[in-house]
Order: sequence, then structure tokens, then C-alpha cells
Amino acid sequence: MATSDELHTALQIRCQQFAHHQSPVQGDEAVSFVPPPPLPHLDAEVPATSRWTPERLRKAIETLPAAVEFPELARRAGDILERWHRRFPLNVWSRFVKFADSGTGRKLQMPKVLKEFNESAPVLARLIDWVEASRKAGEPPVAIIDLCSGFGFLAMFASELLPAEHVERIYLVDN
Ligand SMILES: C[S@@+](CC[C@H](N)C(=O)[O-])C[C@H]1O[C@@H](n2cnc3c(N)ncnc32)[C@H](O)[C@@H]1O
Repeated sequence: MATSDELHTALQIRCQQFAHHQSPVQGDEAVSFVPPPPLPHLDAEVPATSRWTPERLRKAIETLPAAVEFPELARRAGDILERWHRRFPLNVWSRFVKFADSGTGRKLQMPKVLKEFNESAPVLARLIDWVEASRKAGEPPVAIIDLCSGFGFLAMFASELLPAEHVERIYLVDN
């Protein structure tokens, strides 16, 4: 796939050619010439850094209803987000922190990942207890199926929160 630099260069060359052809053209050249598309602001569309730093997200997590009911889970979610922030490239991270497009998350202009954490915290808390009970009972590692997984935030948090040696696999299913 072409990089934005390569696209810029190609478009700039076409713009120069277009400028060159602005002078009246004759014969076949006038018929076959197609003007280039406008030059997009490729660099302006992708910010160099996200304003949603892990520190800012931690502060925002503290304001969530889930943080009142599940304070330890909320603290761990802050650690997880810090790891993801280091791990994922900016274009992926940007998808985590873009504003939620529905419900309370949208009204409060909450990053998508926080909206999903807030909504999935009760499920995550039960999942942690269930896996721990299974481990204590000496059962084999569990398989978890995340039905209607969407982007997959719930499964992603689960994969970070649960003991890896007691989870055989997490399956994500969406239509
Ligand atoms: C609100 S989203 C879930 C978000 C998810 N909790 C997360 O962490 O990203 C609901 C999802 O259910 C999926 N869905 C709805 N009906 C479905 C069906 N019948 N079978 C499979 N997936 C379905 C939709 O495609 C959508 O992605």
C-alpha cells in the first residue's frame, strides 16, 4: 500500500502536470486530458499524538459509575490502557479513544473504550469470580464465548484480567 508521502508526491506531480496543461491545448490532448483530483490534507488528518494519554484516561476512569462499584477493576483497567497505549500504533489507539457514538457515552463525549469498560465492568467482575472458582475447584481451563462482541473491548479486557493458564481460549462472535 502506498504511504501518505508516496501519495502526496504522486498527486503533486499530477497537479504540476495539470498546471502545465492550463495553457490552451490542442487536438487529441484536449480530449484525453482529465484534471487530477484535489490534493487531500493527508498529514492533517492523522494527529502525531493522541490527547487521550493514559494519565488522562485514568482520571476519566475515576469518574465512571463502574469505578464506584468496582474500584479494583477500574484501577486495573487504567494499567491495561497504559499497556495498550504503548503497544498499539496511533491509528489503532485512535479507534479506542474516539468519542462513543451512542447513549450516555456520546452525550458525555466519552472515549469509546471507557464507555465499553463502564458497561462491561459487571460482566468482567463476574467472569473473574467464575474463572477463579473454576480454578479453585480444579477444573480444566475454561473457554469463553463473547457473543455479539462488536469491536471486542470486553474480550480484550477479559484477556488481560484473567489468568492466562486457566483460559483455554476466548472466542469472539459477531454478525
Ligand atoms: C453494542 S455492540 C457490542 C460492543 C462490545 N461489548 C464491545 O466491547 O465492543 C453489539 C454487537 O452485537 C452485534 N450483533 C447484534 N445482533 C447480532 C446477532 N444476531 N448475531 C451476532 N452479532 C450480533 C452487532 O454487530 C454489534 O457489533
